[in-house]
Parts: sequence; structure tokens; C-alpha cells
Amino acid sequence: MFWSMPELNRAAASMLLQSARQSVESRAVFHLVLAGGKTPRGLYEMLAAPPFARQMPWRQTHIWWGDERLVPPDHPHSNYRLAHEALLSHVPIPSGNIHPAHAGARAYERELHEAFPGKTPDFDLVLLGMGPDGHTASLFPGTPALDERSRFVVEVRYPQADPPVPRITMTLPLFDNAHAVIFLVAGAEKAAVVDAILRHRGSASRLPAARVRASRSTIWLVFRPDSDLLPRPGAGPVS
Ligand code: 6PG
Repeated sequence: MFWSMPELNRAAASMLLQSARQSVESRAVFHLVLAGGKTPRGLYEMLAAPPFARQMPWRQTHIWWGDERLVPPDHPHSNYRLAHEALLSHVPIPSGNIHPAHAGARAYERELHEAFPGKTPDFDLVLLGMGPDGHTASLFPGTPALDERSRFVVEVRYPQADPPVPRITMTLPLFDNAHAVIFLVAGAEKAAVVDAILRHRGSASRLPAARVRASRSTIWLVFRPDSDLLPRPGAGPVS
């Protein structure tokens, strides 16, 4: 699907609110994994404002990050900092429900094992972005992290990354075990890759973003001004 950015953010916020309400109703908690990068800022700001801010079950919501740059939490490159500025500092979410990832892969894995004892984390909703090379979170094409099946979180060093700083990333088993994944993708420079993935073209299926398959639904919300390259409206969610 493709929208203007406000439409994309409103659709994402509505889906996220619905997921939160269903999760709290069925298991009294909503485990949400935030995406990094710049694209989600508008969505996070929308969630921090009426009507969504009043409707979200913040006290039952737990916030995780799909990846993080190994920089201090107040660093301009920090995914935590963006989410804190745009959303978390504006809503009544208990501080104990916020799980930053900047202490490293092993520490984050310990926190995940404590929160999901004896099982692979089954997040209610994972938000992901995608880079022009088809990476998602910090799973980059052709890197060993893509094939990691036992660790929940691994450290990544990928000089071509933007920014080129050390990172940690959740691994595919966590994304695939999530109840739902929503990709938020914006930018003309990503259109050809999105098109190849959504049309299941050739080698695109091996790209990191193409390999994410949540247990129930994987939805792509794509913004492209000249959207003639993308499937027509109503193409519906990829699942
Ligand atoms: C990161 C992100 C990364 C991001 C994409 C898109 O930490 O870099 O997790 O996967 O989502 O690179 O980034 P933009 O939204 O800034 O285009």
C-alpha cells in the first residue's frame, strides 16, 4: 500500500492501537518493538498526541528495539534517543516497561530471557524499516547475522552502514516469531527494492527485509510520491 506520509503514519498508528488493545485483552500486556532510523519519527509523534496518546494502554505496554547503534542514549545516532524525544517522554509509560538496547547484545539477550522465560520472545508487534539495500533492523545483505538461528541478539559491524557505527540487532527468529510485523518504508531510493520484494522478483527474496515472515501477518506500508512502480492501492498486506 502507498500513502502520503500522514496517511501512512495514521494507518500505522491505527493498526498499532488495534494490536495493543487485542494484546492487552488477551494477555494483559503489549510487547512492541520499535524500528530505528528516521522514517518512524512521524508515527512516534502521532502516537504521542491525541487521539492515540489517550487511547493507547501505555501502562501495559513494553517497548523494545529491533536494533540499536552502540552509542550513548543521548547520541544523535541513538534509536532510543529518537523514540524518547518523539514519543516516550510524552506518554505515561512506566520506566520499567522501556527496554533500551544500548548496553550490548549479551545484556539485551539477558533482558529478553528474563521477560520471556524459557521461550523465544513472541512480540505482539514489530515495527521495521528498510534501507535502499534491502537491510532491515541491522540485518545487512550477506552478513552472518542473517543466518543466526539460536541467538536472539547479535553484534554487527558493517562499514557500509549509515551511520557506520557498531550495532546490535535482533535476529530473524525473533521477527518471525512475532504475531505481526509492519514495515514502514519511505523514499524514492527504496522503491525499486520494495517493488522487487513485493513482487517476489528473483534474488530479492534473499534480501533481509524479504526474509521476515511474522507468524500471523507481515504488512508493508510504503510511501512513494510517484507510486506508479508499486502495486496498485488495495494490494493489501503481504502475509
Ligand atoms: C537503523 C534501522 C534501519 C533503518 C533503515 C531505514 O538502526 O539504522 O533500524 O534498519 O530502519 O536503515 O532507515 P531510515 O528510516 O532512516 O530511512
